[in-house]
Amino acid sequence: MPDVLRIDVISLFPGLFPGPLTESIPGRALDRGLAEVRSHDLRTWGLGHHRSVDDYTYGGGAGMVMRPEPAAAALDAVRGDDGFVILPDPGGEVFTQGRAHDLAARPHLVFLCPRYEGVDDRIRRMVDLELSLGDYVLSGGELAALVVIDTVLRLLPGAIDAQSTEEESFTAGLLEYPQFTRPPEFRGERVPDVLLSGDHAAVSRWRRERALERTRRNRPDLVEGTTGRGARGAQWTELSAEEPEVNPARRRRHDRADDAERWDGAEG
Ligand code: ADE
Repeated sequence: MPDVLRIDVISLFPGLFPGPLTESIPGRALDRGLAEVRSHDLRTWGLGHHRSVDDYTYGGGAGMVMRPEPAAAALDAVRGDDGFVILPDPGGEVFTQGRAHDLAARPHLVFLCPRYEGVDDRIRRMVDLELSLGDYVLSGGELAALVVIDTVLRLLPGAIDAQSTEEESFTAGLLEYPQFTRPPEFRGERVPDVLLSGDHAAVSRWRRERALERTRRNRPDLVEGTTGRGARGAQWTELSAEEPEVNPARRRRHDRADDAERWDGAEG
């Protein structure tokens, strides 16, 4: 029996958890006891009669900033010896499937969800990882935490069939190949003959070619490479180990970090 992954979430809106995590695959993972999600109201550690958690920005500027004392007290109370503290932040490392695998292997995750204009910068030294979902701004860290938790829960052994997570998008560094089910013809479009042929080698070849084609079309950065820096670099390392024939030039570029600027310019 694998250990239970403990997940603590510190938020001003603890009622948002477990929320969508009670349904479908994450719901089953939680029901099966593979993980437990606990949410904590940051106001428990708020200051004074009003349990205040925010204040004006030093130096001026719009919006409020989360004070460091309540967040630090919450982390002290919740993280224990083994908590890996994650701060959802649009300025953080871009979240990838590779990072999800890393988080799924840890015993205890703690999410500190910012609201307002963010946290006092001194809190960052208590944080192990700042994670961004992408280049856009959410109203707070809760939705980002839910996305990360959902992605991690389905990777836990026993959550779903291992083959599904091995074959799915990004695990081999490519997008997933197209899938079909019955009927064999729908609105004039037939399921590709090869999938009905029973020739397993031909099916594998076809799927691989379609995965490559789709990745080249929708996410050329994954096959051609750009700079190889940051979170995506880790994903490419995985890709180059498993799929060296995808684009051998890409691996050379990725390894030569000093070339990063040149490729930035050439492909940007
Ligand atoms: N908080 C606000 N925007 C975010 C983003 N894009 N990713 C993670 N956390 C966020």
